Amino acid sequence: MTHLEVLPMAEEHIAAVAHMEQVCFSTPWTESGLRAELTSGTAVFRVVLADGVPAGYGGMHFVCTEGYIDNIAVLPEFRRHGIGQTAVQALLSYAQNHGGTFVSLEVRESNLPALALYQKLGFQQEGRRRSFYTKPSEDALILTRRFA
Ligand SMILES: CC(C)(COP(=O)(O)OP(=O)(O)OC[C@H]1O[C@@H](n2cnc3c(N)ncnc32)[C@H](O)[C@@H]1OP(=O)(O)O)[C@@H](O)C(=O)NCCC(=O)NCCS
Repeated sequence: MTHLEVLPMAEEHIAAVAHMEQVCFSTPWTESGLRAELTSGTAVFRVVLADGVPAGYGGMHFVCTEGYIDNIAVLPEFRRHGIGQTAVQALLSYAQNHGGTFVSLEVRESNLPALALYQKLGFQQEGRRRSFYTKPSEDALILTRRFA
């Protein structure tokens, strides 16, 4: 895997991103849900291509100066090659370049790979939502990356 490219999510990526959702999450977003984001004024969705193949994606809503990441996902066979980090950094850069004050997200407290990724990129725990997740039920940790 030599070349990573970040593109705004477009119609041509919807099927691939829906597949990532199916593979990565117990309550995946549907194609129609993802497609709705293409016309949302607040959505910032980015696809990471690895040697031209959609391998990961990140989605955020950016409102006023606040970014809220909905999902980050990388296909299992592409993990540990910097694709998740590339996706998160693309969203952080968008927020910083548009006057953002912080980017926040929720993550399952047992999701150690994701927690390691977010900690590496400067997110800090700022709260907890009890039983936020289903299938299985689990608390969410609220992580936030603040900009100076
Ligand atoms: C979490 C996830 C997005 C990470 O994607 P990835 O492309 O494998 O991550 P990267 O290769 O960019 O890793 C960047 C850093 O994250 C951390 N990290 C990622 N996966 C890790 C793992 N399995 N164990 C420990 N640390 C890990 C490391 O600090 C890594 O830096 P390093 O390579 O210098 O050690 C991926 O595992 C995934 O899609 N998981 C399922 C979906 C999910 O849980 N999404 C997050 C929902 S909040």
